[in-house]
Amino acid sequence: MIRTENDYFLLSTGSSSYAFRILETGQPEHLHFGPPVRFEDLPYLTEKRAFPAGNMISYDREHPAVTLEDLCLEFSAEGKGDIREPFVVIVYENGSRTSDFIFESFECPEKRPDWGTLPVSYADSDSGSPASGEAASGETEPSDSTGRTCADAGAEYLVTRFREKSHGVLLELLYAVYPDAGVICRQARLVNESGEKLRLLRLMSTQVDFPAKGYVFSHFWGSWAHEMKRSDTAVSSGLFAVSSFTGTSSNRSNPFVMLSRPGTSEGSGTCYGFNLVYSGNHYEALEVSAYEKSRFVSGINPRGFEFLLEPGDTFTTPEAVMTYSGHGFAGLSRNMHTFIRRHILRGYWKDKERPILLNSWEARYFDLSEFRLLPLAKSAKDAGIELFVMDDGWFKGRNSDTSSLGDWEADRKKLPGGLKGISDKVHHLGLQFGIWVEPEMVNTDSDLYRTHPEWVIQIDEKTHSEGRNQRILDLANPAVVDYLEEAMARVFEESRADYVKWDMNRIFSDVYSPYLPAERQGEVFHRYVLGLYDLMGRLTRRFPRILFEGCASGGNRFDLGILCFFPQIWASDNTDAVCRVHQQENYSFGYPLSCLTAHVSSCPNHQTLRNTPLETRFAAAIFGIFGYELNLEDLKPADREKVKAQTELYKKWRAVLQSGDFYRVRHGNTHEWICVSPDRSRAVGFLFQALVHPNTQYAVFRAKGLDPDALYHFYNNPEQQDIRKFGSLINTASPVHVRQDSLVHNVIARFMTMPGEEEDALISGAALMNPGIRLKQAFSGTGYNEEVRHFQDFSARLYFMEKMPQP
Ligand code: DGJ
Repeated sequence: MIRTENDYFLLSTGSSSYAFRILETGQPEHLHFGPPVRFEDLPYLTEKRAFPAGNMISYDREHPAVTLEDLCLEFSAEGKGDIREPFVVIVYENGSRTSDFIFESFECPEKRPDWGTLPVSYADSDSGSPASGEAASGETEPSDSTGRTCADAGAEYLVTRFREKSHGVLLELLYAVYPDAGVICRQARLVNESGEKLRLLRLMSTQVDFPAKGYVFSHFWGSWAHEMKRSDTAVSSGLFAVSSFTGTSSNRSNPFVMLSRPGTSEGSGTCYGFNLVYSGNHYEALEVSAYEKSRFVSGINPRGFEFLLEPGDTFTTPEAVMTYSGHGFAGLSRNMHTFIRRHILRGYWKDKERPILLNSWEARYFDLSEFRLLPLAKSAKDAGIELFVMDDGWFKGRNSDTSSLGDWEADRKKLPGGLKGISDKVHHLGLQFGIWVEPEMVNTDSDLYRTHPEWVIQIDEKTHSEGRNQRILDLANPAVVDYLEEAMARVFEESRADYVKWDMNRIFSDVYSPYLPAERQGEVFHRYVLGLYDLMGRLTRRFPRILFEGCASGGNRFDLGILCFFPQIWASDNTDAVCRVHQQENYSFGYPLSCLTAHVSSCPNHQTLRNTPLETRFAAAIFGIFGYELNLEDLKPADREKVKAQTELYKKWRAVLQSGDFYRVRHGNTHEWICVSPDRSRAVGFLFQALVHPNTQYAVFRAKGLDPDALYHFYNNPEQQDIRKFGSLINTASPVHVRQDSLVHNVIARFMTMPGEEEDALISGAALMNPGIRLKQAFSGTGYNEEVRHFQDFSARLYFMEKMPQP
């Protein structure tokens, strides 16, 4: 609901309100973002001002009390007294940087205005399932006869317009309100109606001024294979900023961030989530002013950014996504999940079940050939896998990462029948066929580079600093985008690809577009992203049935911009289950796990050399879009049987895991998660333990999101335990002495296993959620029979819950 009257604006989602008003002087005063308030309350939320304090700048003689330095503003510019982080910075032809934007008009368009160029959220009243989670209070306000209400099925829109007083530049702010998700989005557009040539140094996507200080800034950062570490920083004074300058949204700092009041937990407390629909350099900052107010801004990173606007040109920012939760991080995540699933993901695969895949990368790396791949595909089929993916290494001369990127033709030595040949054979096995590409890159050792060195981001007179021996194609150049569209279309057509993994394996250096003139080199980063979106848009429209997966050395471009085109992203090159539990859990704060992919790989793990049980690797991976990435042929027969059982089990629960609601229940040494079907009739629980602590054997599993009034069958799939896991303790049961790891020990293990503990209960949803169900006692120095949960370091369990029919 959007309501406006007498220069007051109230945007309500049902679970949150966002309000501002226009001051007498024409600037927008931000009034509130937080729990719901009434329109009638708004006058009491304005700041009561009678005089300027101390040495502050007064806006003008008529309004001495309007001191922009300490006002909460909807956006701010430089030069008229506000010295905090600006929203917009423009250099005018006379060299001045002072802007003074004054309110001009507003409208509530029925449909979202088309601002072109960038992907944005959307409303589609037909696409959503019933609302769920915190935002589903269903509150609707009656339309008001004196005021104006703006409504559209699924979303409501507001556009406000501000005109620069002396230069005539127009600044438009677009708001989209999604009541079903408890989310409000913002976007800004600058229209150069000044008649002069402008240099735009900064235009943020959102600014939220809070009237107090004392927020904790949480962000998610990392590096290759080490994505999504969380840091919480209490910002009591000064400026705290995080950003990406890699040219991508990056694993160095994800654009999703949270602000919270100290003490906020999963289930209680005030917090805010922010994200950007953008895949390039970004910036998020929280500044505490000298007057103890907090300003949050987020948008394109101003570093390395400068955009020239000729008269008549426009510049549009990425869209910012904002949510408020008064019920802790769980509420925030529920809102973000609902929003992404309904209003970001799109296309054929949006709500479709995704196939189980086997990816060739960790199985064979560059050592690919039809001869080697087909037996692997055959064992995938035997194991119940549905999609076979040929990763890097299939194209002309690609035997290592030093050559061939750009030459997208099959290497006939490896694939004598070309792409069609291998694809036909894989299809013939009854599997879908997928292929890896890295369209944005080129090796200097490639025909493409030799023919078109001018298509590459590099500076002629400088030695290029390489990343993974490759360079980045200049997507700011439309000719490159045209070429790539056709090159990729040929690959997709020839291979009859059902799935495409779109990789991107380096960050930017030596940033320079040979296509752009010198005065536009500050536009390269952003124009690259625009070119990328153009390319992705063309190919996803041309091949709507292909399941695309984004990837950038793992999670180096995990963001909402990519998710507007591709429904899933490879979250990390780290496939170690222990690391994945942490990473996936941290992704879940801002993203639904059903948009990230997770694979079972071999052990010792290729990134960490850690050993984890196959059961744990499976349990962690099914809480993402699930697949395998190992040489199935090399597995022991018993493990192959286990994989087969895993794929069967997954197929039974796939719908719940891919379309259910995900909740974090507990995290620390143990991690507890649950995924509940939208109708709350089925759920899968996850319990993982990092390290065993002695005498902590009485675990409780607590559910979330179930129907409290329903009766559930709670059970597990008991796993047979390998007796070698008990080491020399075998001698406490064996009539003859068995030397540990001896031939005898191994022979006994082949014929004898220990039955795993069984859980089987009929229990109400209310009890499962609180206090939770008590699990079988864990091994703790004594006790090793089937009544005991053998829960070692890195162990995991899956629990299944099914609603029983009412008696
Ligand atoms: C990086 C990706 O993240 C890996 O999964 C793999 O596809 C390699 N690139 C291939 O070069």
